[in-house]
Amino acid sequence: MPSLDAVTGAFGYTGRHITKRLLASGQTVRTLTGHPDRPDPLREQVDVRPLDFDAIDQLTQDLQGVETLYSTYWVRFAQGGLDHARAAENLKRLFSAAERAGVRRVVHVSITGASSDSPLPYFRGKGLVEEALHQSGLSHGIVRPALIFGDEDILLHNIAWIVRRLPFFPIFGDGTYRVQPVHVDDLAELAIQLGNEAETRTIDAVGPETYTFTALVERIAQAVNRRPKLVHVSPDVGFALGRIGSMVTGDVLITRDEIRGLMADLLVSHASPTAPTALGAWLDAHRATLGVQYVSEMKRHFDRPKHHT
Ligand SMILES: NC(=O)c1ccc[n+]([C@@H]2O[C@H](COP(=O)([O-])OP(=O)(O)OC[C@H]3O[C@@H](n4cnc5c(N)ncnc54)[C@H](OP(=O)(O)O)[C@@H]3O)[C@@H](O)[C@H]2O)c1
Repeated sequence: MPSLDAVTGAFGYTGRHITKRLLASGQTVRTLTGHPDRPDPLREQVDVRPLDFDAIDQLTQDLQGVETLYSTYWVRFAQGGLDHARAAENLKRLFSAAERAGVRRVVHVSITGASSDSPLPYFRGKGLVEEALHQSGLSHGIVRPALIFGDEDILLHNIAWIVRRLPFFPIFGDGTYRVQPVHVDDLAELAIQLGNEAETRTIDAVGPETYTFTALVERIAQAVNRRPKLVHVSPDVGFALGRIGSMVTGDVLITRDEIRGLMADLLVSHASPTAPTALGAWLDAHRATLGVQYVSEMKRHFDRPKHHT
C-alpha cells in the first residue's frame, strides 16, 4: 500500500526533487506550499494544501495520515517582515502540528554549519530549528546540504550568468574559503533514505569535490569558456557591486550575510562526502545552458500570489 508523505514546497527547488522521487517510488504526496495556486507540471500528481503557519488546526488536519514530512521551508533573506527568526518560529509551529497529527517521521533540510550560536541569522535560525526538532517528541532525521546545485539552482547559474557577460568577476576577500556542492537529486535521495530510517540522525549532504570560492568561479568560467579577470574586493565593495547587480536584475543578487556566510567557511563538511555527483563533470555536461538565463529569487518567491505570513 502506498503511504502518504508530505513535502513543503513541492513546486520549489529541493521539494520538487524530493517529490518526484517519492512519486516515482509509488508514494502518494501532499504538498504544503505558500503558492497553492501556482501552475506547475507536478500539480496534477500531488495533493496541494496551503502552508499557513497561522492556521495551526488546519495544518494539523493537513498532516493527519502523513507518514513522513519532508521539511524544506526556509527564507534566503529577510523580506516583508519575514526574517530568519520568524521562519524558525514558523517551523516550530509546523513541527508541533506534525506531532499533534501523529506524523511518524520528519526529515528536515538544514545546512552545514547550522548553529544556534552563529552570529549569522540564517545559520543561527537553522541551528534553533534543529534544536527544536531534537526537543520535540518526533522521530526525525536532519540532512545538512552545503551548497545545492542542479538545473534550477540560483548561485551557480547566476555566477555563470555574470561570467558570460562581464570581463571581470569580483572575489570577496582572498577567495580561499571553501564550498562543497551537492547535486539536488543526491540531496533528495539522502532525504528519502533518512525518511525510511527510524533513528535520529543528522548527516551532511556534500558531494565529492570541494572548491575554494576562487576555484569555483574559475571552474564555472572554464565550463562556459570564458576567462574573466578575478578582482579581489573587500566584502563591502563586493556588496556594493552586488547592489548594482540587484538593480540591473530586479533581484537580490547577494546579501551582506550571504557574503559573511560564504567567507566563514561554513559550506563544507568535516565528514566524508555523502553524495556521488561531482560538480565539475556536471558543469561541463550543462555548459550549453549554464548561466544563459538569470535565475531570480524574487521572481521565484514573490511574483505570484502566496499564503505565507
Ligand atoms: N539552495 C541551496 O544552495 C541551499 C544550501 C543549503 C541549504 N539549503 C536549504 O535547503 C532547503 C531548500 O532550499 P531551496 O533552495 O530548495 O528552497 P526553495 O525550494 O526555493 O524553498 C523551499 C521552501 O521554502 C519556501 N520559501 C522560500 N523562500 C521563501 C520566502 N521568501 N517566503 C516564504 N517562503 C519561502 C518555499 O515556499 P513555496 O512553497 O511558496 O515555494 C518552499 O516551501 C532550505 O531549507 C534551505 O535553507 C539550500
